[in-house]
Amino acid sequence: MTVNGQFPGPTIYARRGDTIIVNVVNHVESNITLHWHGVHQPRNPWYDGPEYITQCPIRPGHEFSYEILLSDEEGTIWWHAHSNWDRATVHGAIFVYPKLGSSFPFAKPYKEIPIILGEWWKDDVNKVLDYALHTRGDSNSSDAYTINGQPGDLYNCSKPGTFTAQVEYGKTYLLRVISAAINNELFFAVAQHQLTVVGADGSYTKPFNTDVIMISPGQTIDLLLVANQKLNTSSPSSGNRYYMAASLYGDAPGVKYDNTTTTAILEYVTPGSNKTFLDSTPTLPSLPTNNDTDAVTTFVTQLRSLASKEHPVDVPQTINERLIITVSVNVLPCDVNYTCLGPYNMSISASLNNISFEDPTTTPILDAYYHQIPGVFEEGFPSRPPFSYNFTNDDLPKYSMIPKTGTEVRMVEYNTSIELVFQGTSLLAIENHPMHLHGQSVYMVGMGFGNFDEQKDPQGYNLVDPPFLNTVGVPKVGWTAIRFKAKNPGVWFMHCHVDRHQSWGMNTVFIVKNGATPESKILPPPKDMPQC
Ligand code: C2O
Ligand code: CU
Repeated sequence: MTVNGQFPGPTIYARRGDTIIVNVVNHVESNITLHWHGVHQPRNPWYDGPEYITQCPIRPGHEFSYEILLSDEEGTIWWHAHSNWDRATVHGAIFVYPKLGSSFPFAKPYKEIPIILGEWWKDDVNKVLDYALHTRGDSNSSDAYTINGQPGDLYNCSKPGTFTAQVEYGKTYLLRVISAAINNELFFAVAQHQLTVVGADGSYTKPFNTDVIMISPGQTIDLLLVANQKLNTSSPSSGNRYYMAASLYGDAPGVKYDNTTTTAILEYVTPGSNKTFLDSTPTLPSLPTNNDTDAVTTFVTQLRSLASKEHPVDVPQTINERLIITVSVNVLPCDVNYTCLGPYNMSISASLNNISFEDPTTTPILDAYYHQIPGVFEEGFPSRPPFSYNFTNDDLPKYSMIPKTGTEVRMVEYNTSIELVFQGTSLLAIENHPMHLHGQSVYMVGMGFGNFDEQKDPQGYNLVDPPFLNTVGVPKVGWTAIRFKAKNPGVWFMHCHVDRHQSWGMNTVFIVKNGATPESKILPPPKDMPQC
């Protein structure tokens, strides 16, 4: 399934403050919705996209026009399908440039290079999803990782299509890296070139140099690369091509991983000459091993907001409420016939605060909230009292937590300052969870390993220049704390961006209530909303 016959789909080029209209015509035989990942959509959740959360899907043969209100986003964000696992092939970039008359907070790069990381299956992805839902879920790894839709030279296929970026010696390039991967987190590096991080998730960061980045599904990272390797004209068969490469970060037990490195090529060319060096063997960058959590932590903890006069931070210094949310993949008991207590009788489920989220199937939550239709969702999240946990203790019985299933949402008063602490658990999967909140970006004020300590850990928060992100990694057996001011009224999905976990229920919804003034209320719905 593609958009306009392209994979990855078309790039949207815009400026900060623009409104974009996208007309979607569904020519396939299944339902679809599109989501504008990282767009805050002020007061306008109607166009946000997650199926049955803010809208009914666009049915086969039907159309819907999305209105995308860019407000404070600047940098790289993206769009993707938000129905089933359609986003595997239905996704593309959104490049948001500074307003006319203002400029990047760094010297203007000579050119841009999009790097969209993805996963490719030989099978229909929705069959793969079905398999993940209806079996024990122990195998659904993709057949290849891809860069701009191509697996690259180290897979036994597609060599001629390998993405190649041509560069000129001495020039600076802006790499806009997007992870559209479905289930896996990836390291990315370019052989013999240092990378300077300048942005993440549609917001600028303080520049820092690194040899490697780790990017989770849903995240974007902007990098500057200086083409500083001298073009070797005397021996044109070597030294002029370098691999840009991505490989797996993950080591959860029971998951069959693909450990192949996906590659694209950085090729030096001389301006004015059409000579290329296709016969030379590119150099591979050295990438961390798939369990190198130290490399991940080193990278992630260097992210800082720019915090300049033009790009100020507005992190809540005090909070109205702190919510501790445990993030778990749960293993559930089965009877002798292997009928288990999870969804679809599975042995696996995923949960936030031990509640496994269930999508409504007929009325979207936004409609239910806006039109006050009862019976669609419960306000209880988290409905269970905070239970005492100690997830660093490896002898926890596997079945200690049997999640409750339900459509539970959290209601939040307009303009309150919220802190969420995601507590990773080691009950089964030892891996990061990239938690994504729709409708606003959030300040990542702290992270650490082990159990979150409510007395001690907040004292170490960064309340000066924390990164402003829409997708934050919860480290394996650790915690991450975020803060935001609930100033965007609407119904906002929050979920793990690993689709396997999302499908198993690692989701909830934040409803930011209408404020008192007309300017702080959800806009009325568009006339042509799709019907279920
Ligand atoms: Cu990028 Cu709810 O998604
Ligand atoms: Cu997850």
